[in-house]
Amino acid sequence: MSILPPLAMLAVRLWFFVLWLCSFVTGSFVNDIIAALEQAVDCGSCHAALAPLQMLAHMGDKTFVKTIVAVCVVLRIEDPDVCDGAIAEQGPILAHSLRSISITGETATLLCDAVFGLCQPPPVHPLTIQFPKVEPYPPKQFVSSGKPRIQVAHFSDVHIDRQYTVGSETNCTKPICCRQYPDSSPPLIKPARENGEIRMCDTPGELADSMLEAVGHVAPDLGWAIFTGDVAEAAVWSLDRKEVSNDLKLFNEQLGEKLDVPVYGVFGNLDISPVNGFPRNTTVIEDAQWVFDLQSDGWAQWITSSSAAQLAENSGCYSSVVPGTNLRMVSISTNYWYKQNFWLYDSDTRQHDPNGILAFMVQELQAAEDEGQRAWIFGHMPMGGGDVLHDQSNYYNQIIKRYRNTIAGQFFGHTHGDHFQIAYSDYDNQTPETAMSFASIAPALTPRSGHPAFKIYDIDPDTYELMDVKVFYTNMTEPSFRRKPQWKLYYSAQETYGPLITGHKIHQDPLSPAFWHNLTEVFATNHTALGQFLQRRNRSERPRRCVGYCVEKTICDMRAFRSENNCVKVTPGVPGFGPGGFEDGDGEGWVQGDEWEEEEEDCEGVGIGRLFRKAIAGRRSALQSSRLLQTQPGIDQS
Ligand SMILES: *[C@@H]1O[C@H](CO)[C@@H](O)[C@H](O)[C@H]1NC(C)=O
Ligand SMILES: *[C@@H]1O[C@H](CO)[C@@H](O)[C@H](O)[C@H]1NC(C)=O
Ligand SMILES: *[C@@H]1O[C@H](CO)[C@@H](O)[C@H](O)[C@H]1NC(C)=O
Ligand SMILES: *[C@@H]1O[C@H](CO)[C@@H](O)[C@H](O)[C@H]1NC(C)=O
Ligand SMILES: *[C@@H]1O[C@H](CO)[C@@H](O)[C@H](O)[C@H]1NC(C)=O
Ligand SMILES: *[C@@H]1O[C@H](CO)[C@@H](O)[C@H](O)[C@H]1NC(C)=O
Repeated sequence: MSILPPLAMLAVRLWFFVLWLCSFVTGSFVNDIIAALEQAVDCGSCHAALAPLQMLAHMGDKTFVKTIVAVCVVLRIEDPDVCDGAIAEQGPILAHSLRSISITGETATLLCDAVFGLCQPPPVHPLTIQFPKVEPYPPKQFVSSGKPRIQVAHFSDVHIDRQYTVGSETNCTKPICCRQYPDSSPPLIKPARENGEIRMCDTPGELADSMLEAVGHVAPDLGWAIFTGDVAEAAVWSLDRKEVSNDLKLFNEQLGEKLDVPVYGVFGNLDISPVNGFPRNTTVIEDAQWVFDLQSDGWAQWITSSSAAQLAENSGCYSSVVPGTNLRMVSISTNYWYKQNFWLYDSDTRQHDPNGILAFMVQELQAAEDEGQRAWIFGHMPMGGGDVLHDQSNYYNQIIKRYRNTIAGQFFGHTHGDHFQIAYSDYDNQTPETAMSFASIAPALTPRSGHPAFKIYDIDPDTYELMDVKVFYTNMTEPSFRRKPQWKLYYSAQETYGPLITGHKIHQDPLSPAFWHNLTEVFATNHTALGQFLQRRNRSERPRRCVGYCVEKTICDMRAFRSENNCVKVTPGVPGFGPGGFEDGDGEGWVQGDEWEEEEEDCEGVGIGRLFRKAIAGRRSALQSSRLLQTQPGIDQS
C-alpha cells in the first residue's frame, strides 16, 4: 500500500510529461502540415506533402487525428465540432492507409487525386475480363406482345434527417442546417418550417412519408420499386455506427409501411459508418459485416432468404428475380470503386476487383443469360462520374458489353441530379449503333439539391425495356407545400424528348440507348433543348444558358458511362468554396460559357477529403484561380 502513492505521483508526472511532449510535437506538426499543404500545388508536390502526413500517421491514430483537427480549426475550414467529428471518424482510415503505402507509388497518386484533387487519375491498367461462356449467337430475342405496361418507381438519396427541427436555423454555419446544434445561437435569421427547407437542409421524416405515399398515388399499377441508396443525412461528422444503424432501420420500416410492393435497395456511400468507409476483405483490422447483416435482415421483407444470405456474403450485393416476371434484379455495391473510400488506398498491391463485385456481376448476368432472363443492374454511383476509379469503370464496361443483350436497364443515384449516361461498345466511335446501354440516374429526395423528385418508369413486361421515364416532384415554394406537399408530373421523357428525335414513334418506341444517343445529337445543335434539360436536371426555376464549352462538356459527360471518357478534370477545392472547384463528376458540376459556375453540393458530404481540398483551395490566390480557369482544357478523351 505504502508504495503506491509515489508510484501514482510518478505516473502523474510522467503523464504530464507525455502530454507536454505531445502538445509540443503536435504543435510543430500542425505547422509542418500547414506548410506542406501550402506547398502542395501539383501532383509532384502532393506526393512530397504526403511525407509529413505519413510521419504523423506513424505516431498513431490519436496524434494524427488531433493534429489534423488542429489544422482544420486553425485554418477555419469548418466549425470546430465539424472538424472534430469528421476527422475522428475518417482520420484513422487515412492514417492506416498512409502507414501502409509508399508515398511515391501509384496508390499515393490515387490518394492525391481523391484527397487533395492534385493528381489526375493514372491511365487505366489494361485487363481483359474473362467470361465463363462466349456470347450466344444468335442472341435471344425479347419481343413485346403488347401487354399492358408495368410501372416501377425509382427514388434515391433520401438523406433523412431524423433530427430535423422546425424552428431551428436554416442559415447556419454548418454543412447542413435545420437542426438544433449545441453551439447554435439565437436570434434566428430564418427558422426552419414544416416539411423541409431547400438547399441547406436534409429531408424531414414527414417529407419521406409524403413521397412514399405519392408513389402509390401516381403509380397505381406499381410493380416494384428501386431505391439507389444514401439513407443518412449529410451531417457526416456526427454519423456514428449507432446513428447510421438507426437511420437504416427506420427507413426500412418506413418503406415497409408505406409501400406494398417489393423494394430493391443498394448500399450508398453514406450507408455505413464512418461514411464512405467500406473496407476491402484484404484489410484485416476492420470489416463491414455489421451493416451487411443489418440490411440482410432489413431487406428480407422483399427478397428471398437466399438473396438476403447472398447480400450478407457478397459485401452487400445480391440478385433477386422479381416474382411473376422474367427479370433478374442485380444489386451491386459501387463503394469499392468510389474514390472517397479511403480503405482502397491501404496497399501498394493493385486489386483489379476488390471484394469480387465484378465477378459477382459476371456470375449473375451469366445466370440470367442461361435462364433466358433479362437483367437490370442497379447501384448507387453511376460509372461515368469523376469520382469513379477508372480501372473498375473500364472493366465494368467490358462486362456490360458482353451481356448487353441480357441487360435491359441500369439505375443509379448519388449525383442528386436527374440525368443519364450512355455506354458504348466502342467509345472511339460513338454512334446510335454503338450505344449499347444507358443508366437512368434518379434525382434526390433531399431538398438540399432542389425540389424533391422521383422517377416512375413504364415498363414493357416482355422486354423489360423502358417505355417512358416520368419525373414527379413537389414544388417547395408553393404555399400548399407547408400543409401537405403536392406531388405532380414534372415531365415525361417520351413526350418531352420524343418529338425532338426524327422518326421516333412517341409512346410506341422504347427509350433505347440509341434514343438517348440521338438526343445528345439534338442537344449538340439545339441549345434551347439542352438548356431545358439542364433546368430539369435539378428542377430549376429557369433554363440554363449553355453554349460553347458547356455544350461540349455536358454532352461528353452524357456519353461517358466509362469514367476515363468523361470530361471531368480533377482540381483542388470543392463546390462552392473558393477558387478551383473540385468537380465530383456528379453531373452537377457544369460550365456556363467559359466560366465555371458555382457548383452544387455533392453527395460526398463533409469527408476528410473535402476538408483537405477546402484547405488547399482556401489559400489559393485569385491570381492562381484565374490561371486555373485559363488552363481549363477542352474535351480531353484519355
Ligand atoms: C445567411 O447568413 C450569412 C451570414 O451569416 C449571410 O451573409 C447571408 O445573407 C444569409 N443568407 C440568407 C438567405 O439569409
Ligand atoms: C476477398 O474476396 C475475393 C472475391 O470474393 C476472394 O476471391 C478472396 O479470396 C477474398 N480474400 C480474402 C482475404 O478473404
Ligand atoms: C440548380 O443548379 C443551379 C446551378 O448549380 C443553381 O443555380 C440552382 O439554384 C439550382 N436549382 C435549384 C432549384 O436548386
Ligand atoms: C437515331 O438516329 C439515326 C440516324 O439519324 C437513325 O437512323 C435511328 O433510327 C435513330 N434511332 C433512334 C432510336 O431514334
Ligand atoms: C429545339 O428544342 C425546342 C424544345 O426544347 C423545340 O421547341 C424547338 O423546336 C427545337 N428546335 C429545332 C430547330 O428543332
Ligand atoms: C414553383 O412554384 C413557384 C411559385 O408558384 C413558381 O414560381 C416556380 O416556377 C415553380 N418552380 C418549378 C420548378 O416548378
